Amino acid sequence: MPFASGFASESHLTFHGPLSTERADRIAAELAARNPATVVDYGCGWGELLLRILEVTPGTRGIGIDVRGPDIARGRDNAAKRGLADRVDFIEGSATDHAGAADVVISSGAYQAFGTVPEALTALRQLVNPGGVLLFGADYWERTPSEQQLAHMWPGTTIDECFYLPDLVDVATTEGFRPLRIQTATRSELEEFESGYAAGAEEWLLANGDHPEAEEVRARLDDHRSIWLRGLRDVWGFAYLILGVPSS
Ligand SMILES: C[S@@+](CC[C@H](N)C(=O)[O-])C[C@H]1O[C@@H](n2cnc3c(N)ncnc32)[C@H](O)[C@@H]1O
Repeated sequence: MPFASGFASESHLTFHGPLSTERADRIAAELAARNPATVVDYGCGWGELLLRILEVTPGTRGIGIDVRGPDIARGRDNAAKRGLADRVDFIEGSATDHAGAADVVISSGAYQAFGTVPEALTALRQLVNPGGVLLFGADYWERTPSEQQLAHMWPGTTIDECFYLPDLVDVATTEGFRPLRIQTATRSELEEFESGYAAGAEEWLLANGDHPEAEEVRARLDDHRSIWLRGLRDVWGFAYLILGVPSS
């Protein structure tokens, strides 16, 4: 189930997902401890987690791939500002067109780049070097949604689109991974993400209430908020799995 797309590039978000800077830095340190030579992020957005990993692994090279041009431009710009431009390539394109193996592979909020969750885990397993890890960030059902909550989510959402957390981890083990870390986003991370997602557009609307596009922006914001508060809240979660593969 992909996130709604829209104004994220212009938003106040640090990450395009429910991820605190504390968790991101902890994950970056955990991944850095494995001394990866290469890190590839499929569906990287503007690649903030990728850049944080490169900052704590001076010898590592990174690649970020995303179909969304403005996000790739933002990633390149941030890399240049932080002195990382010579160690990271941001590629605008689809994940499957640029797939290559790495010691650390990231797919966070972006499994749809490879299909369903099981299809993504099958594809990603082939892209992790022996002894390497996959950071897999994906949504799951924290609780079973009611029919009413499902009706308030993205159009056409069904209960089959997400796994429960134990089943999500079981899919990973079935595909040949072992779970080294199983973490889930907190209520605070989810609220920061959903609020931050809309914050830039809400600020714009306050300052531009008479603009010809104001009605459309207001409607999109109200829709986004309703999906979150009437649909997703309390039933939808987001997991961060660090998944290891055998060294031989
Ligand atoms: C929810 S965002 C997550 C971005 C990033 N991983 C993060 O956590 O900040 C999902 C991203 O997947 C990208 N995406 C979707 N389909 C893709 C594909 N086929 N190939 C590459 N990227 C894709 C979207 O453009 C979007 O930036």
